[in-house]
This record gives sequence, structure tokens and C-alpha cells, in this order.
Amino acid sequence: METLERLNIDIERVANSRLEGVDFDNLKFGHVKSDHMFIAQYRNGQWTNISIKPYDYLQLSPACIGMHYGQMIFEGLKAFRLEDGRIGIFRPEANMRRLQRSAERLAMEPVPADIFMEGLQALLEVDKSWVPHGEEQSLYIRPFQFGDEPNIGVKASETYSFIIFTCPVGKYYDKPVNVFVEDTYIRAARGGVGEAKAAGNYAPTLLPARKIKEKGYDQILWSQRVDDTLYAGEIGTMNFFVQIGDKLITPELDGTILPGVTRDSIIQLAKDEGIEVEERMISVKEIFKAAETGQLKDAFGAGTAAVITYIAGLGYHDRHYDLPPISERKLSTFFKQKLNNIRLGKEADVHNWMTYV
Ligand SMILES: Cc1ncc(COP(=O)(O)O)c(C=O)c1O
Repeated sequence: METLERLNIDIERVANSRLEGVDFDNLKFGHVKSDHMFIAQYRNGQWTNISIKPYDYLQLSPACIGMHYGQMIFEGLKAFRLEDGRIGIFRPEANMRRLQRSAERLAMEPVPADIFMEGLQALLEVDKSWVPHGEEQSLYIRPFQFGDEPNIGVKASETYSFIIFTCPVGKYYDKPVNVFVEDTYIRAARGGVGEAKAAGNYAPTLLPARKIKEKGYDQILWSQRVDDTLYAGEIGTMNFFVQIGDKLITPELDGTILPGVTRDSIIQLAKDEGIEVEERMISVKEIFKAAETGQLKDAFGAGTAAVITYIAGLGYHDRHYDLPPISERKLSTFFKQKLNNIRLGKEADVHNWMTYV
């Protein structure tokens, strides 16, 4: 066993790597896991047992608090292989801070910055050969944390596990999506946990997602009603953007939507280009009116897994509007290209978004 100095990370390497057996041409998102995982545990008021181990099942108490009462949060970020062979991680500090904010909202002990950042660096160093070389491929990184105190009873756990594992991945969503505005079920309400990346935010979306699939739609646009007006929120695992006329508009961070790292990056890139960006409440009525008058030029989802996903059409009750053809989508195509170029080191990283392993 070796020990990494600064954090005293104990490293136990696999006896035999699984890398040889991986079919990199057919990567199903989230199905292939790299050889190792990083673990840190919060015990007796401090973070301890900091280690990198072979990826394996966990041993947990059936009474584990996270599994009963939902003290469970996660993150998603990506590492890329650059043309010169280096490995770059896209904005890991932003994900680290969001994990800490999610922890705070769920009364969990936040993971210290150095454990997140150095643990991630060390894990990627150990598993660097798992970062794929192929075009549109990357290493998806899944940090997560849960209360693991082995006692039931609704209260904050006194102990936590923080784990990072990684998956080599290809494209997440390949084709433009048809999106349906959901107004029967809601994902989040003001004052709730919509802005936290809590595991419990996702299960309630699965049944509505199944129902809109039966209508022929791919994704849900979540909405909220305020003073009798229905406002747009976010899409499944992506933030929502529309271009009306020359303006780029995205719902403001009002506590009901996830503050996406991709969303933040797009707003910055738009400002860099002098594109007018509005972060505000946008009603479904305004979006459909813009569609009817030909002012809705573009609409897309933005997130780590899917990067930029074009919206082909929008449905609401029995109405449906098809958006302009992809060949006319100047803004979304520009952001897609720009983000890709920065991540792959093909363009200057003026905002210092990349962290190199
Ligand atoms: C609900 C939700 N909204 C938006 C996003 C996009 O966030 P990010 O750009 O940080 O991946 C995600 C994915 O993490 C998500 O799960």
C-alpha cells in the first residue's frame, strides 16, 4: 500500500485492471466504471479513512440514515483528454461548492474543499488511462455523499461517507429532443430543495417522464405557477434556454432550479460575445407567443451529461410547436462548439475553467 502525502490518502490498487475488456466504441452512459474509487468518511467529528480502493460494492447498515430519510446528495462533472495527451477537468471547484451548498441545505456535514479537490486529482491520477481518447468521449465523474449513521429516526446523521467514482462515457443524448411543458406534477417549489442536487429530487420525476413518453415526447420542461401564471423552470437534467429575437433568456435562480455549471458557463460565454442575456422568470405563454410570431429562434437544454441539447419542438396540453431547423440554430451551435473547444484545449481558456491532472 502506498500513501499520498498531503491528505494521507491510502491507495490500494487493483491486482488486475478491467481496462483491457472495455469496448470503448460502445460505451453505455454510466454502465462502465473505472478501476478505482475514492472514499472519505466522517467519524467522531472529523474526516478520516481517506483512501483510494478498487471499485466495489459498499457495506452499509440496513438502518443507514441516508437510505431512509434521503440525506443523500451528488454531483456530476467531466474530465477530457486533450490533443496533447493531458487530462483536463471542467470547473471542478464549481461542483465542489455546489456539493457543499447541497450538504448545507440537507443538514449534512460539508466535505472540505481539499478532500474533494485532492481526492479527485489523486483518483484521476490513479485511473488516468480510463479517460477515453475518442471524439465526443469523456470521463464522467460522480462524487456523492450520504448520511451513513446506522440508526433509524428522523434526524441529521452524525456520520457520512463521501465517495467519487468515474465512468468513461460517449454521447448522452444524441438527437434533438421534443419537450413537453408539465403542469400537473411539479419538481420543486420555492423554499424546497430544488436548487440542491439531492437524490430525492429525481425519483419523483420518473413517473411524469414515463407519461410524457407515452405522448411521444422525450423530456419534461418543469414549470411553476405564480399568481396564476405558469413559468418555465428546467428540463430533466438540463437548464433551459430560449432565444427570443436577439435575446438569450434563461429562468432565474429562484431556488426551484439547479444552478447548473453549464448554465453559468453559457451565460459567461454569451456576455463575452456581447449577446444580451436575461436571467428572469419567463412564462410559458411568452414562449408560445414568441413561437407563434416567429420570434422563437432557438431553444436548448444545457448540462454536464448532455452538454447542449437542441429542442426540436415544444408541447403544452394539446398544442405543439416545432422550432426552426438545427441548421438555423446559431446560438446553441456556437455554445456547443465553444465549450467543446475550451474543454479539449483547442481554444484559450480565458476564464481558467480547466484544472489539469
Ligand atoms: C436537475 C438538473 N438541472 C440542471 C442540470 C445541469 O447542471 P450542470 O450544468 O451543472 O451539469 C442538472 C445536471 O446536473 C440537473 O440534474
